[in-house]
Amino acid sequence: MTTLGIIGAGHIGSQVARAAITAGYDVVISNSRGPETLSDLVAELGPKAKAATAEEAGAAGDIVVVTVPLHALSKIPVEPLAGKIVLDTNNYYFERDGRVEALDKGETTVSQLLQEHLPTSKVVKAFNHIRSGDITTDVAAAGAPNRRALATSSDFPEAVDFVTTLYDELGFDTVDVSPLSESWRVERDRPAYVVRQTAAELEENLAKANRLP
Ligand SMILES: NC(=O)c1ccc[n+]([C@@H]2O[C@H](COP(=O)([O-])OP(=O)(O)OC[C@H]3O[C@@H](n4cnc5c(N)ncnc54)[C@H](OP(=O)(O)O)[C@@H]3O)[C@@H](O)[C@H]2O)c1
Repeated sequence: MTTLGIIGAGHIGSQVARAAITAGYDVVISNSRGPETLSDLVAELGPKAKAATAEEAGAAGDIVVVTVPLHALSKIPVEPLAGKIVLDTNNYYFERDGRVEALDKGETTVSQLLQEHLPTSKVVKAFNHIRSGDITTDVAAAGAPNRRALATSSDFPEAVDFVTTLYDELGFDTVDVSPLSESWRVERDRPAYVVRQTAAELEENLAKANRLP
């Protein structure tokens, strides 16, 4: 069985854990304060979940999810994630993260910053434009009318394939907005950001996004 290592156990990390366990994955989840602070969450998640440090979660994951505030990006362990597909849920909130000039100028994207930090990992954007609560509730079987779609983006086709399969298992269609340099189209303040949309609507919203919001 595939193990997801999850770095960050907040709104999104805990919800991705719940959804992935329901879909049959094992989960090793971590936060900044230590595994002992995750006992309630792990008890709720059940026997397919373990708490660990960020390094341990990264090492245990066949696939790793990074879901921390952008200001903590530099603290993400590099070596345990080497060579792995790494899902990036992060968004840029200057009010929380401080100003990042290259993002303000439209010279890079949030996920390219993580890719630079993890040069041998295969970073792929995922779950960044859905409210955490909707990850377990706004779901439908493949082929259902009006099924919600989520975007993904990567420089690595195998990472896009993994996220496409995961989204489908969890109950979402996928729209691919690769390569990572195009992922600004699904960042904050663009038309596709945190709205409910089908695949056709998401494609339209991605197409009409402006480089600087
Ligand atoms: N909330 C949403 O609906 C939503 C939707 C889409 C995308 N996002 C984006 O996804 C990211 C996570 O959002 P969130 O709402 O889940 O944040 P959150 O609820 O504030 O949780 C952040 C988590 O990251 C952990 N963390 C911080 N620094 C860490 C480090 N150095 N090592 C390991 N873990 C660390 C925190 O641990 P401690 O609590 O121990 O500090 C906490 O578990 C953000 O970039 C956010 O913008 C959020």
